[in-house]
Amino acid sequence: MTLTVEPVKPLIGGIVHVSPEHLLDDETIETVRSELEKRGVLVFPKINVSDELQLAFTDKLGDRVNFTRQVPGSDAETNDVYKITLDRKLNTEPDYVLGTFFWHIDGITIDQPLPKATVLSARHLSASGGATEFANLYAAWDRLPEDEKREYENLTVVHCVEAAVRPVHGHPSEERRARYKAMAAVMEQPLVWTHEDGRKSLLLGTHADGIVGMPGPHGRALLARLQQWAAQPDFVYTHKWNVGDLVIWNNQGVMHRVVPYTDEGRVMHRTTIAGKEKPGHKAEEANVERIYQIA
Ligand code: OGA
Ligand code: MN
Repeated sequence: MTLTVEPVKPLIGGIVHVSPEHLLDDETIETVRSELEKRGVLVFPKINVSDELQLAFTDKLGDRVNFTRQVPGSDAETNDVYKITLDRKLNTEPDYVLGTFFWHIDGITIDQPLPKATVLSARHLSASGGATEFANLYAAWDRLPEDEKREYENLTVVHCVEAAVRPVHGHPSEERRARYKAMAAVMEQPLVWTHEDGRKSLLLGTHADGIVGMPGPHGRALLARLQQWAAQPDFVYTHKWNVGDLVIWNNQGVMHRVVPYTDEGRVMHRTTIAGKEKPGHKAEEANVERIYQIA
């Protein structure tokens, strides 16, 4: 036995004890895959991976998402390793990073299969703030009262980057809106996602901007209530980082956010594993118009 997994809380979190030499072993990869489904987020304390080892780990788990030249912060040193930092020398668009202060699912406003998992390693920490919170969206569905489950089961939600960055910028300029448009799509996603294995989870986050067929405020109010429900303490694991920690989360069943920090010295290295399942599709124009009407 080269590794053990220690649960953190009943509904979320696991600590993986394995040495870097065994990170790419078949047994480790298999265990990580299955534990990600059960625990949502796994921590490898102070494992101190290089970019090369992080990419090799990412590649063994699936297909890496190729960030090359697509987003600011990519490829500063290593292909497909994205720098999460407010340091403009490393990431030319920290505004985009400020969006991580709010609950979100990575890649949900891109018209592609939802990324399966995100891998993040801590290179430099901030003096204050900077812990990362993860909320289990399978648990959030499972524990809803039955009458609410029936009410929500067939609802569809509009997700867009504009909503994701509204708390960052307020009303973005025309120029910025054009950039968002080029970067992402307005997507319709099921509120309740039935995965191929039959399990169900909620799809929520700050990018959720309305419910199809409902006036804007009605949809947004329900989404706000559900987000609050999903972020209740029993469903949440908060990771307080040490330098060298590596964390991987099941991006298809977990939403996450970081406790705000201002320190430009904080640097995290991120890689992403592509998903195979695509719960949603590009939004219909008429459905989008409806969520900006108030009655
Ligand atoms: C991310 C993210 C949170 C953090 O990398 O996708 O949301 O703690 N990061 O930096
Ligand atoms: Mn993120």
